[in-house]
Amino acid sequence: MNVQTIMVIGAGQMGSGIAQVAAQAGFRVYLNDVQQPFVERGLATITKNLSRNVEKGKLSEDDKQAILSRLVLSTDLADAADADFVIEAVTENMAVKTAIFSKLDEVCPPHAILASNTSSLPITEIAAVTKRPEKVIGMHFMNPVPVMKLVEIIRGLQTADEVYQLTEDLSKQMGKVPVSVNDFPGFVSNRVLMPMLNEAIYCVYEGVATPEAIDEVMKLGMNHPMGPLQLADFIGLDTCLYIMEVLHEGFGDSKYRPCPLLRKYVKAGWLGKKSGRGFYVYN
Ligand code: CAA
Repeated sequence: MNVQTIMVIGAGQMGSGIAQVAAQAGFRVYLNDVQQPFVERGLATITKNLSRNVEKGKLSEDDKQAILSRLVLSTDLADAADADFVIEAVTENMAVKTAIFSKLDEVCPPHAILASNTSSLPITEIAAVTKRPEKVIGMHFMNPVPVMKLVEIIRGLQTADEVYQLTEDLSKQMGKVPVSVNDFPGFVSNRVLMPMLNEAIYCVYEGVATPEAIDEVMKLGMNHPMGPLQLADFIGLDTCLYIMEVLHEGFGDSKYRPCPLLRKYVKAGWLGKKSGRGFYVYN
């Protein structure tokens, strides 16, 4: 199958980044979300990123315009009737994702592959709501998508080998490095990353050190580009809590219990950078 048109569902931080790299790779891309202001905000983020690259001399103005011309805004999932490959990047909620996959299964052409950018939910369960589970796959990008090289590719129980191969090739065309991972809670990235962020939050909770000191230890001592609390704020504390809950429930192991301070912050609406307050204050 020759992929020409990709639909990205969800125009937030992840979805707009995925749409950007897909359009940069030469694909025609639908950027879909439930409301026009959401897709417009996604397009504004992409335009800002591309303009920054033009200013730095990394992209010509003509190339920027060509990339933007390949992006089509959409607020109707029925537009996926035209798509060869769909990448869903909506909120981490199984009910929301399965509703979208059922609808996609109805509207997409039979050859279309349906991928989810889920960071921790089982691909096998998402695939089971469709009549094409062999064409459903996990494609987990990292934030910020235009910068981070990794894509975890997750096979569900029924994912076909040729679908895996095509998704791997597509990731490379989008300038990414695909890594194959099996369908376990949190895959590899979040199974390893989230317990470290949760442990850093325990260090704040137990008074081991201040957030600034903890981040300094990990940046200067372990060469991490961001400290764990800064990174948790950047990812979103609600997302971190959700992923810890998926790990805790999925493995039934107390080592994955979310820190009470993380729960408290999320209940207070302190969700990190996006809400203006998390372990740090953002203006
Ligand atoms: N969008 C697009 N480009 C961005 C960007 C964004 N949001 N943020 C930074 N950049 C670009 C900058 O423009 C700059 O580009 P050039 O090299 O062309 O100049 C480059 O990235 C470096 O940026 P900065 O110099 O401003 O800052 P930095 O060197 O500190 O890098 C960073 C920023 C890449 C975000 C770095 O801090 C980093 O790697 N942080 C850790 C990110 C990480 O761990 N991501 C994974 C999160 S977990 C996840 O995503 C999975 C999940 O399921 C939760």
